[in-house]
Amino acid sequence: MDTVHIFDTTLRDGEQSPGFSMNREEKLRLARQLERLGVDIIEAGFPIASEGDFEAARAVAQEVKDSRVAALARAYLPDIDAGLRAIEPAAKPRLHIFLATSDLHLKYKLRLSREAALEQIGKMVRYARERCDEIEFSAEDASRSDIDYLARVFEIAAEAGATILNIPDTVGYSTPEEYGAIFRHIAEHTRRFPGIILSAHCHNDLGLAVANSLAAIAAGARQVECTINGIGERAGNASLEEIVVALEVRRASFGVGTGINLKEIYATSRLLSEITGVSVAPNKAVVGANAFAHEAGIHQDGILKNPLTYEIISPQQVGVPARRLVLGKHSGRNALRAHLLELGFMTNDEELRLCYSAAMALADEAKQVTDRDLLTIVHQVRRGNIAAANEPGIGATAGD
Ligand code: KIV
Ligand code: ZN
Repeated sequence: MDTVHIFDTTLRDGEQSPGFSMNREEKLRLARQLERLGVDIIEAGFPIASEGDFEAARAVAQEVKDSRVAALARAYLPDIDAGLRAIEPAAKPRLHIFLATSDLHLKYKLRLSREAALEQIGKMVRYARERCDEIEFSAEDASRSDIDYLARVFEIAAEAGATILNIPDTVGYSTPEEYGAIFRHIAEHTRRFPGIILSAHCHNDLGLAVANSLAAIAAGARQVECTINGIGERAGNASLEEIVVALEVRRASFGVGTGINLKEIYATSRLLSEITGVSVAPNKAVVGANAFAHEAGIHQDGILKNPLTYEIISPQQVGVPARRLVLGKHSGRNALRAHLLELGFMTNDEELRLCYSAAMALADEAKQVTDRDLLTIVHQVRRGNIAAANEPGIGATAGD
């Protein structure tokens, strides 16, 4: 099975977005978990950015042994030297060099001509390659760059020794069809260089980061750059968990695998939320609180008969502790009976009827009925204290 390398940039592109900054210890904690998750490459930081970033990246490089550790550098000597020093203790180091290639960035941001940029890329990649065995080159704003110029940029980078060529959709502007076409074009122009891996790096400004990453894979990309929970600049980067699970669930369509240990996905998402204090939206795919919760009675009934009716991924597959059947006002009696059974109560028809009406009354007020509420209800019903089952006292535990 063909493999796509997972390049995690939570500690760099993710961390640099507001509200997600992490200190050295926090980065180390997350890096250890990323290694357990099985990511191929951990981008540990942008060492020239600050002393703290340098120290944290170096600490990650020192500690991580299984995953490759990358550091980011602009195509300038001080950046490259700082990056090289940060990854120097790594068992498997990679220097990741970038320079913008769109006319917009060249003219207004870098004030550099196309020719001067080509020269800079060649010189800097060659310099880095003499000091580090693995070099990645990224053409920032690639998706808005002139396609023939972009091909020339990657030829120069490959000639100078870069073996991973990254094609970022820096501002999240591309569409899956367009992005896939760029990969096919660049693959055509870099075919003559042995061992080249094309890489996708997508931002989510139009909500297309995962779709674009998958389109790149379908067009031949064999590395994807992504973050846990999709954190990152502005609307975020492509979400690691969504890409990996899509490749797993639709394996027959994509025909590629990853080395990710799916069972560590949920724990990794939770750890990042715990460290940053930012939780994911309840409806977030794969790791959101509602991703495996079924409230509609018809759905719950289906799930109980065969989980495949409404679940394309099982919560256990991605390490979610146990399925959560939310008992809300659209729930059915079958779901309630099964839920009570899971809690250890076999109910007769009359008990079930009473529990159901009490639970529905509570769902009207509190939207959800927790396991604790159900335990109270079933005890009240069994004591014959049916009226009390509808008392507001029960509702007091609804938010627990
Ligand atoms: O979005 C981007 O272009 C980047 C590069 C530095 C790879 O993050
Ligand atoms: Zn980025």
